[in-house]
Amino acid sequence: MRTPFVAGNWKMNKTAAEARELVSQLLGPLTDVAGVEKVLCPPFTSLFAVTSMLEGSGIGLGAQNMHWEEKGAFTGEVSPGMVKELCGYVIIGHSERRTYFGETDATVNKKLHAALKHDLTPIVCVGETLEEYESGRTSEVVLRQITLGLADVAPANAARIVVAYEPVWAIGTGKASSGENANFVHGQVIRPALSRLFGEETAQAMRILYGGSVTAANASEFFQQPEIDGALVGGASLKAGEFVAIVRAAVK
Ligand code: PGA
Repeated sequence: MRTPFVAGNWKMNKTAAEARELVSQLLGPLTDVAGVEKVLCPPFTSLFAVTSMLEGSGIGLGAQNMHWEEKGAFTGEVSPGMVKELCGYVIIGHSERRTYFGETDATVNKKLHAALKHDLTPIVCVGETLEEYESGRTSEVVLRQITLGLADVAPANAARIVVAYEPVWAIGTGKASSGENANFVHGQVIRPALSRLFGEETAQAMRILYGGSVTAANASEFFQQPEIDGALVGGASLKAGEFVAIVRAAVK
């Protein structure tokens, strides 16, 4: 029995003051929802601003990215230790990082190892582009991203990794995947790959989220699928009522 997991990826939205405002709207309604692991991922500049607000609320805090090195001459980067000071979670390898900032399966793997070392719960994103989808290469691409991105992790550490399947063509487009299609990729591609890497028992314990144009209106289509354990929500996580409704829909 996997605990449902819903994370809000705020991307490059909300100043610290705006973040505090959104968190104050979410706090009561989200704290009341039991049985779902809930995480907010605001920009770096807002993490400190909201961390004390979330204390004792049962709502987790996550970063959207981090570097893998401990410290040093990496202008503009934030280290795993810095993230760990404020957060319990970190998103790794989001498709926007891969597309715009040159992240690869190799850098995803370095970040994943750094996150596990610092006891952060990693949310590792995978997913095919529109071109890859249209040419029937979804399985091949996702399999490669999982195999290389999650390489060399000890099975004992793997259970806490959360995987987010986010087809790039569905992100921010309003064209979500169907529940059935996502369930197929989760159950026929991702979980079998996790099983080969970490063994069947561990693979069955790992959460696999869907992401890409999830809204309050379509969330339950995903959550009723047996292989979909929650969602990574972008645009809809910026609206309190919408995000709360998605989290409620995830209750088993
Ligand atoms: P979206 O983004 O919900 O706005 O499509 C999802 C994501 O990029 O994580």
